Amino acid sequence: MKSPLVLVTAGPTREKIDPIRFISNYSTGMFGYKIAEEARDRGCRVVLVTGPVSIEPPSGVKTIQVESAIEMQKAVKTWSNKADYIFMAAAVSDWRAADPARAKIKKIGRKMSLELKENPDILKTLGKRKTYRLVGFALETENLIGNAAKKLKNKGLDIIVANRLTKNANLFGDNKIDVLIMDRYGGRDIYKGLSKGRLSKIILDKAFSFNIK
Ligand code: CTP
Repeated sequence: MKSPLVLVTAGPTREKIDPIRFISNYSTGMFGYKIAEEARDRGCRVVLVTGPVSIEPPSGVKTIQVESAIEMQKAVKTWSNKADYIFMAAAVSDWRAADPARAKIKKIGRKMSLELKENPDILKTLGKRKTYRLVGFALETENLIGNAAKKLKNKGLDIIVANRLTKNANLFGDNKIDVLIMDRYGGRDIYKGLSKGRLSKIILDKAFSFNIK
């Protein structure tokens, strides 16, 4: 029997404004990379779709490098059909420039505005017709439980891993964090001060033992 196929997304996306500028976020990709490595160490076949990050691609993992949300969506679509588990840890940009310029935009000596267009919600699309266990992530600045519960339901997830961005915490990177993990049957656990490596083991344990009722 083939080992399970685990699809993981990681890192930020970059949305071009012009040939030399982009919109992005502070994601380092660490969480997704740790999950991919943990799945590999458990004998799974792993596909990692990653936005631009400065960490090395893990050995023994098929790594697909993408830049924008649209590119990430395409790679995810290709692999989701074959996946048994999907971990959507990427910090996908919610918006892209409505009309990226082909040449460098020059300053004009006055206020300037940029029109944005919403990116597709990759995770929500994945939640519509599931042949896999689906795990989403959420980073919130307020109402952690309420927002996580809403995303769990609205995006059709089995499990959500949520954390809060507080004043002193740097949630991107390898430091220890507090997370709330909820599942679609009302299971709810809080973990405090754990590394992303340790949390990856907990998240995989939960996803792998998750049974559809
Ligand atoms: N996500 C996605 N596609 C997007 C935005 C988010 O697949 N365009 C996924 C992320 O990878 C993550 C989850 O959705 O697993 C939650 O992302 P988050 O940014 O917290 O939520 P949003 O849906 O963007 O909601 P909001 O901006 O209202 O907080």
